[in-house]
Amino acid sequence: MSLITVDTKLCSKDGLCAEVCPARLIVQSGDDLPREIEGAADICIRCGHCVAVCPKGALSNSLTPAADFLPAPKDLPTAEQTEGLLLARRSVREFKEKPVSREDLELLIEIGRRAPTASNSQNISWIVVQEPGRLAKIEKLCVDWMRPMAARAHYVRMADEGNAMVLRGAPALLVAHAPQSYPWGDSDSAIALSYVELQAVSMGLGVCWAGLVTRAAEAMPEVAAAIGLPEGQKVFGGLMLGHPKYRYRQVPPRVAARVLWH
Ligand SMILES: Cc1cc2nc3c(=O)[nH]c(=O)nc-3n(C[C@H](O)[C@H](O)[C@H](O)COP(=O)(O)O)c2cc1C
Ligand code: SF4
Repeated sequence: MSLITVDTKLCSKDGLCAEVCPARLIVQSGDDLPREIEGAADICIRCGHCVAVCPKGALSNSLTPAADFLPAPKDLPTAEQTEGLLLARRSVREFKEKPVSREDLELLIEIGRRAPTASNSQNISWIVVQEPGRLAKIEKLCVDWMRPMAARAHYVRMADEGNAMVLRGAPALLVAHAPQSYPWGDSDSAIALSYVELQAVSMGLGVCWAGLVTRAAEAMPEVAAAIGLPEGQKVFGGLMLGHPKYRYRQVPPRVAARVLWH
């Protein structure tokens, strides 16, 4: 199967497509048109870089349909705005009694699915839990999972006193999962969820990482079942989402960066 098609009228033979291909599947030199190496289609990771970098729109790739490309955004936030967003982010654990709209959740997942993945494998799938009964069941099961743990005795006591120590009363839980055997599940899901988190903050939403749910889902099949995890999949991470009840006025201190400069 041929991988790339070059529009001979548009191509300026600048070689950019060849240069950016992470697997060096395209060669271009001098006045020659770009061409793919033998077996390229079997190695291509569908990253779309060869098409996306071409200033003339001269190249198409049979594995990355032209209709699926978006124009690259031009108006990026300034460094100062980005720094503000990153510093303003807090783990939000107090939420208003207001659901997160379907529209907002769909946009967040749309952003999450565009996060980088190892070898562009795009193995992350999503589960959104919003039904109050299901959230309550996950909360209870996670507390049951913590019950025998001495280190979690305080959390269990607080939960037994009526505090939502796991899901924090958030109206939505977003779970990232991937095939159990996928070796990059931890990193890919952490990156995708970080994308979601920061986009959510920019939209005025509050987010907290659901580490307890992630661990409990791994340890207790009942938790995975309550989440609705498909067979053969593993929960690699999750976020609680909602409308934050409070605004933080300061950025709390963190340890100074430990850096070795060579
Ligand atoms: C966990 C992880 C490991 C990666 N490792 C490599 C790597 O070793 N070499 C490389 O060229 N790209 C690496 N990448 C980049 C991916 O190939 C890239 O994100 C993917 O092709 C999608 O392209 P994009 O980041 O431009 O969207 C890695 C990405 C992730 C998330
Ligand atoms: S889609 Fe990516 S890996 Fe495939 S040919 Fe283009 S640049 Fe290379």
